[in-house]
Amino acid sequence: MKFDHPAWAALLSTSLAHASPSKPQQSSCSTDTTPNDFNSTCASLASRLEVENGIVYFSEFVAAGTNLSLPDNNATCVQPYMLVTADICRVSLHISTTDHSGFNMEAWLPSNWTGRYLSTGNGGLNGCIKYQDLAYTTAAGFAAAGTNNGHNGTSGEPLYNNADIVEDFAYRAIYTGTVIGKQITKDFYGKSHDKSYYFGCSTGGRQGFKAAQDFSEEFDGIVAGAPAISFNNLTSWSGSFFRATGTNTSDTFVTVPQWAIVHADVLKQCDLLDGYADGILEYPPLCNYDPSGLQCTGSSNASTCLSAKQVQTVKTVLSPLYNDKGDLVYPRLQPGAEILAAVILLGGTPFPYTTDWLRYAVYNDTTWSPANLNSTDFDNAARIDPGGIQTWKGDLSEAKKNSKILHWHGAMDAIISSANSPRYYEHVRETMGLSSDELDEFYRFFTVSGTGHCGGGDGAHVIGQASDEVTTYDPKENILMAIVDWVENGNAPETLIGTKYVNDTQSLGVKFQRAHCKYPKHNQYKGEGDANLIESWECVDA
Ligand SMILES: *[C@@H]1O[C@H](CO)[C@@H](O)[C@H](O)[C@H]1NC(C)=O
Ligand SMILES: *[C@@H]1O[C@H](CO)[C@@H](O)[C@H](O)[C@H]1NC(C)=O
Ligand SMILES: *[C@@H]1O[C@H](CO)[C@@H](O)[C@H](O)[C@H]1NC(C)=O
Ligand SMILES: *[C@@H]1O[C@H](CO)[C@@H](O)[C@H](O)[C@H]1NC(C)=O
Ligand SMILES: *[C@@H]1O[C@H](CO)[C@@H](O)[C@H](O)[C@H]1NC(C)=O
Ligand SMILES: *[C@@H]1O[C@H](CO)[C@@H](O)[C@H](O)[C@H]1NC(C)=O
Ligand SMILES: *[C@@H]1O[C@H](CO)[C@@H](O)[C@H](O)[C@H]1NC(C)=O
Ligand SMILES: *[C@@H]1O[C@H](CO)[C@@H](O)[C@H](O)[C@H]1NC(C)=O
Ligand SMILES: *[C@@H]1O[C@H](CO)[C@@H](O)[C@H](O)[C@H]1NC(C)=O
Ligand SMILES: *[C@@H]1O[C@H](CO)[C@@H](O)[C@H](O)[C@H]1NC(C)=O
Ligand SMILES: *[C@@H]1O[C@H](CO)[C@@H](O)[C@H](O)[C@H]1NC(C)=O
Repeated sequence: MKFDHPAWAALLSTSLAHASPSKPQQSSCSTDTTPNDFNSTCASLASRLEVENGIVYFSEFVAAGTNLSLPDNNATCVQPYMLVTADICRVSLHISTTDHSGFNMEAWLPSNWTGRYLSTGNGGLNGCIKYQDLAYTTAAGFAAAGTNNGHNGTSGEPLYNNADIVEDFAYRAIYTGTVIGKQITKDFYGKSHDKSYYFGCSTGGRQGFKAAQDFSEEFDGIVAGAPAISFNNLTSWSGSFFRATGTNTSDTFVTVPQWAIVHADVLKQCDLLDGYADGILEYPPLCNYDPSGLQCTGSSNASTCLSAKQVQTVKTVLSPLYNDKGDLVYPRLQPGAEILAAVILLGGTPFPYTTDWLRYAVYNDTTWSPANLNSTDFDNAARIDPGGIQTWKGDLSEAKKNSKILHWHGAMDAIISSANSPRYYEHVRETMGLSSDELDEFYRFFTVSGTGHCGGGDGAHVIGQASDEVTTYDPKENILMAIVDWVENGNAPETLIGTKYVNDTQSLGVKFQRAHCKYPKHNQYKGEGDANLIESWECVDA
């Protein structure tokens, strides 16, 4: 029996007349019904819902302001609580995808519904419903859903000897979760969504491109940040740094303070390439950094210089990765991210996702050792491509018909090199035989300078990409609302305005703003004017 509730549907057609301008635009589907109607409709939803291959655990009303306890969320997800800022109906369920695989999912349905549906993604190799994005997007009026991508927790071990769990992780959970999320939305509100969106970063960015490549009919708009595309090659690359650095007792290892010296040297050589020395490389591809000058000479002080072996490590780290045949596996880590990378990729321990992906998905071999990672592994990972996770198809013809894609990548990303994103853009351009102007019609890519992996960094990194990276809901400064404005009003973004707050603290005020440019253009200082102001910069061709 499908849920059909005409009274509720009628209530939902009442428009919300007094939306405050600082909040996202509300459309005609909002309700000013009393909390109790919403509450009781929500409470009974679980018993009415019928989901194919699904078990509905519960549906519960969660009032705005609730610090929601998440006791079932695996401890490795490090998210035991979530602050809910809108009145929502929270639905929890399990979906079986095969006899021995399935996923948990939640749908959050706000009382202030705008008629928009949104799917959230995941991160790393997890296994964690992205509650932050559910909270963020439902507060903006979207009915939102998210899955645990087929397993619980951050480890890749559940993928071991189970190709079905791998398939859930690669594409099936996000696809199936979207179909079911839309069904729940319709059953609850008594009408279908008007527009459908996808919003994710990192592995979530890869899931966005998976959708764009294989099931774009599900989404009118896709926001894909720092995408983990060319996934097998990315994991090979992430694992390759341990070979370059060795452990922290190795003579090839470069310490955190030494990476700070390297970073200062990068800035010395490259900061002015964008016309202004502010510690931010607007466009790292321009920087052909050479660390040779840092090598210690007879008289120099070893705390301010590097040994010949360490200089070689720096060169290796900032160079593309090739296999033994000379094929490119993955582009270089872009210069500028040295300090952020020092504690993650360059910390002198194997990268855990590489170990897990190779062990449990590529080889089904729990004894495989990351210390011996080599060219054969790079080739095997790319060839076996478990679950079709590579996500590198260049033909987006279907997406061109169905969707708008907003692709962004932080240019200080220390986990997934931002150099891989323009490489994908060019791959699409060449595969489809389109010019950038033609791609602009449905696919736009922005390099967000001075921004780390999905957020943070030295630059104007606040673009509305997460609940703690929001200045306003103005589409010019908020990527979530920018995709809505493009899809629904045809206002395609030319720039994404980012904000840097003093000490990254909003209450301390704005330090500077920058209008991040649409690829292939990048920001260049005009040569005069306050560099903290957007208008002192211009988007120029590379
Ligand atoms: C609904 O949205 C309006 C306008 O943004 C806001 O004032 C109100 O508090 C919201 N109500 C709930 C229950 O979230
Ligand atoms: C909503 O319903 C729950 C039980 O389902 C109840 O505990 C709670 O007090 C209700 N809240 C409101 C605002 O009616
Ligand atoms: C939610 O509750 C937990 C446990 O009491 C607390 O640590 C956390 O700070 C709370 N979060 C918010 C946003 O209030
Ligand atoms: C994941 O955790 C949820 C909530 O505790 C549980 O219902 C589900 O069975 C778990 N899934 C797996 C595959 O362990
Ligand atoms: C939580 O995740 C970790 C790492 O993925 C896993 O080892 C553990 O079994 C999970 N715990 C539960 C209760 O599912
Ligand atoms: C891993 O094991 C599973 C289960 O036996 C199998 O289906 C899958 O093909 C194996 N994967 C590889 C890459 O050999
Ligand atoms: C070196 O690595 C070991 C093992 O990972 C760790 O315990 C130790 O604290 C590290 N030393 C430094 C100086 O970082
Ligand atoms: C090397 O430089 C450090 C920091 O500037 C200083 O503390 C140390 O005394 C110097 N050592 C020598 C041998 O000059
Ligand atoms: C890579 O390592 C494996 C064993 O770990 C070995 O069999 C293979 O020959 C190596 N490949 C290369 C190119 O060294
Ligand atoms: C991945 O790496 C292999 C070499 O191991 C290379 O042949 C292939 O072109 C790479 N794929 C992408 C998408 O970069
Ligand atoms: C910003 O942070 C720095 C270092 O933590 C501190 O010295 C400074 O006082 C802070 N500035 C403001 C305005 O709080």
